[in-house]
Amino acid sequence: MTKNKDTNSTSQIHFPVMSDNVLAILDPKQGETYLDLTAGYGGHANQVLERTLVSNQSVLVDRDQMAIDRLRNKFLGSGVQLIHKDFLTAAKELLEQKRTFDIVLADLGVSSPHLNTASRGFSFRFEAPLDMRMDQRQELTAGTIVNDYPQKELEVILRNYGEEPKARQIAKLLVDNRPIETTTKLASVVAQAWPGYSKVHPATRTFQALRIAVNDELRLVKEVLPHLVDSLSPGGRLAIITFHSLEDRIVKQYFSEIAGDRYDTDMRLLTKKPILPSQDEIVLNPRSRSAKLRAVAKIKNKKKGDA
Ligand SMILES: C[S@@+](CC[C@H](N)C(=O)[O-])C[C@H]1O[C@@H](n2cnc3c(N)ncnc32)[C@H](O)[C@@H]1O
Repeated sequence: MTKNKDTNSTSQIHFPVMSDNVLAILDPKQGETYLDLTAGYGGHANQVLERTLVSNQSVLVDRDQMAIDRLRNKFLGSGVQLIHKDFLTAAKELLEQKRTFDIVLADLGVSSPHLNTASRGFSFRFEAPLDMRMDQRQELTAGTIVNDYPQKELEVILRNYGEEPKARQIAKLLVDNRPIETTTKLASVVAQAWPGYSKVHPATRTFQALRIAVNDELRLVKEVLPHLVDSLSPGGRLAIITFHSLEDRIVKQYFSEIAGDRYDTDMRLLTKKPILPSQDEIVLNPRSRSAKLRAVAKIKNKKKGDA
């Protein structure tokens, strides 16, 4: 296996987020099986598989071709199975095959290589076409949403997924300034709604909103959670890392529904409150600052009538 800190041609350094906490909560043991739903560049996967010591019953999923190519190189000859699909489709297929896992992890959102690869259009730091697709086989791009969607629909996307206070004004600006073909033009149009801004660039919320809409992120998280619980072996652990309040709310509510103060459940909450990154990690990897880790476990050998 390779080292934790990963370098590649499109980003400088890749740090798996909150990796000490992830290992502490997932507690991988020799011989256990692992399902990584957002394997990305294999940082967490590498650390988990180094502890389970077997890979041939484990599965790494990602919907990004770049990530899959990278995973293929990294885990060549290890026997680990790679799936190039969105995690909802992958989780359903694995369940149909009656596969279960001792350890399941989803580290949601985009990867640093997404943000640092100019041509993917995720960031307004670089001039690029408005793309933002994690899976480049998909048709819908951010460009289509910005240039073709009705103003009202844009407003809803900006408000719901970006929590943008000026959603209505920005939606109108977008429609009035069509065509908007590049990341930098989009950022400058959005900035017109926030003259004299300081600190955070006002386009940050718009970019988040568009990315969530392009990749249908919230629906996929919401729908995959029950399948992940079904995929856990008795004694299995499931951890999810989120990066914004919208997805964290979904995970928090679902975990408390299935593992909160109930007596008729075989699930146990491992995190009453979310685990947050340390200050040291935030300094080393600023992207980790909004991360929240939540986890549940499936109770082993729960007998009928057990509380
Ligand atoms: C934050 S990165 C994961 C990094 C990884 N944990 C590591 O240590 O290298 C998130 C990855 O999840 C993938 N991803 C996001 N949503 C997905 C989905 N619905 N289905 C499959 N992959 C997804 C992205 O393409 C990206 O590579």
